[in-house]
Amino acid sequence: MKISGRTFVVSGGASGLGRACVRDIVAAGGNAMILDMNQEQGAELVGQLGPSTQFQACDVSSTTSIADAVAATLSWIASTGKPLGGIIPAAGVGFPGLILDKKLKPVSLESIDLVLSINLRGTLDLVRQLLPALAASEPSGPDGERGVVIMVASAAAFEGQMGQVAYAASKGAVASMTLPMARDLARFGIRVVTIAPSMFESNMTAHMSDKVRTGLQKAMEFPPRAGKPEEFASLVRQSIENSMLNGVVIRLDGATRMPSKL
Ligand SMILES: NC(=O)c1ccc[n+]([C@@H]2O[C@H](COP(=O)([O-])OP(=O)(O)OC[C@H]3O[C@@H](n4cnc5c(N)ncnc54)[C@H](O)[C@@H]3O)[C@@H](O)[C@H]2O)c1
Repeated sequence: MKISGRTFVVSGGASGLGRACVRDIVAAGGNAMILDMNQEQGAELVGQLGPSTQFQACDVSSTTSIADAVAATLSWIASTGKPLGGIIPAAGVGFPGLILDKKLKPVSLESIDLVLSINLRGTLDLVRQLLPALAASEPSGPDGERGVVIMVASAAAFEGQMGQVAYAASKGAVASMTLPMARDLARFGIRVVTIAPSMFESNMTAHMSDKVRTGLQKAMEFPPRAGKPEEFASLVRQSIENSMLNGVVIRLDGATRMPSKL
């Protein structure tokens, strides 16, 4: 599907991987609706990229906040005439915690709920609420394609490290729902792709200790470095443009396989 002339919704679009996608979509001639809790960074990005972008404050763990963001997106689309082409739910949080610590204290249910409500429920709810508009888009191209959903899992979906039980549960679930979602949406000409990155440069990884960073680098094959947000955005672009990518979880990790401990 062509990016040019269409609108793409990017949650977590104010920072890191989502922000790189927003830049890339705009560079390819698309419009990007940025949904994020970080109003300052969202407004700054819109200031840089101009009228091909719009920012809407949104907490993806709140279904009413998503409903407001969807309404704002549809009204922007009505004014630009650029139909919805894709949904990229990239908002996510880490919040590590051992399931049971040395003092025999189990991880709090609040922290589990928080990670699941943003990474898993927030992803599903945003997709769910935008799908009616995506399915109503005019079919395009020889295959009658209407759009694409590109979700973000993680290497932790496959090799979660110590302290990543909740995060791995959320990302494993995102990976698992890719194929059934693609099957459900095939009749509408909507594809579903999930990308599972290893360590990428972003706010999420900027605060890592040197010890953790060095340990992660030892686990890397080639290239032995963190991925760049632009490399993630480039695979998102390919996932939008290449109609044969569907129902698949793509690891973007330079052959890194995370060890248990660093
Ligand atoms: N950076 C990595 O190494 C890495 C690796 C694997 C997966 N991921 C995943 O990539 C995605 C993007 O992460 P990133 O690395 O760019 O991190 P980031 O912290 O730079 O960006 C995440 C964005 O999500 C927003 N956000 C957080 N909670 C939100 C909520 N409730 N509602 C709306 N927005 C919210 C934040 O404000 C932030 O702008 C996440 O899903 C993350 O789990 C990142």
